Amino acid sequence: MRIGILGVGTVGASVANILKDNKDIITARAGVELEPVIGLVNNLNKERNVSIKLTTDVDEILNDESIDIIVELMGGIEKPYEVVKKALEKGKAVVTANKALLAYHRYELQDLAGDTPFEYEAAVAGGIPIINALRDGLTANHIESIRGIMNGTCNYMLTKMINEGVDYHTILAEAQELGYAEADPTFDVGGFDAAHKLLILGSIAYGIDAKPEDILIEGIENIAPADIDFASEFNYSIKLLTIAKKVGTKIELRVHPVLISNDEMIAKVDGVMNGVSVIGDKVGETMYYGPGAGGDATASAVIANIVDIARRGKGSPMLGFESSHGENLTLMPKEE
Ligand code: NAP
Ligand code: HSE
Repeated sequence: MRIGILGVGTVGASVANILKDNKDIITARAGVELEPVIGLVNNLNKERNVSIKLTTDVDEILNDESIDIIVELMGGIEKPYEVVKKALEKGKAVVTANKALLAYHRYELQDLAGDTPFEYEAAVAGGIPIINALRDGLTANHIESIRGIMNGTCNYMLTKMINEGVDYHTILAEAQELGYAEADPTFDVGGFDAAHKLLILGSIAYGIDAKPEDILIEGIENIAPADIDFASEFNYSIKLLTIAKKVGTKIELRVHPVLISNDEMIAKVDGVMNGVSVIGDKVGETMYYGPGAGGDATASAVIANIVDIARRGKGSPMLGFESSHGENLTLMPKEE
């Protein structure tokens, strides 16, 4: 299968390189060779560590009938929305890690995809296969809650601020340098990136069709060194938590910093790691832990989708953002 990668930055370059480095096992597991043949970039003169052909012309990729799978890793909303729509209309399978795009257009794109695979495992919690867990592993359960650390940048920053006293701006610059932060890091520190992920999980777990504007979002920008000292004095940590909770027939969705006792498992999720607790009515509590950002970790989840598409063939979609969800739940207004 031939793959076009739209965006050859932190994640896109890792996707191309892992497909090459681990070609033997990936081919064996997919049952077919997966070849990244072309990548879209803004700037052809930028130095980058990849060996695929590059172009600045998206139509060169979309109009190439020999390309089976489009991997969207550009970031932003409007441009990827336009190109993902075009790719799906042309019957190409699409894999994306773009949670901002999904936060606004997931139902529409899933409907447009129809029988064409449209996958997004890497959009939530980086390398942790949390979407797979919710869609498949926990499908026998009513999901009672999802509670987790789902932004690697904020967790990396808070960990360094708490453990090493590094100041906010220095550590944000470091997270950007490491490729963890969004192109506009306000999405990370403002809590919006975590909210985008929460909305995706809210759709999968509960069938909720909401936008970021509909839920409570507070980031970490106002956390002062004094707050951190105060928390530490009482053996607490400050974490940016992403919370979905079922209350009767209502679903509460919110993102904000929380004081957590250092004895709790989630308080031990440090650095760029993410940790997600999901409580199902039958299974009880399950926990997922792993790297929440970074090129290779995220590419690992992107390639899982690509391999899955290759295995299933292009005409057999997995359960996604379906309008018929099996439960009749509505979003709790944010002021309740
Ligand atoms: P990035 O390093 O900024 O890379 C973006 C790439 O897209 C660059 O190669 C850029 O070209 C290209 N690009 C952007 N807009 C374009 C346009 N209009 N036309 C042509 N090329 C364009 O971003 P990233 O960190 O890899 O993230 C990519 C996506 O994955 C985002 O949606 C992000 O939210 C998501 N994601 C990232 C991570 C992570 O840890 N980084 C984790 C999970 C999900 P140039 O290189 O020429 O500038
Ligand atoms: N900027 C995001 C984060 C990337 O720091 O979690 C992974 O989605």
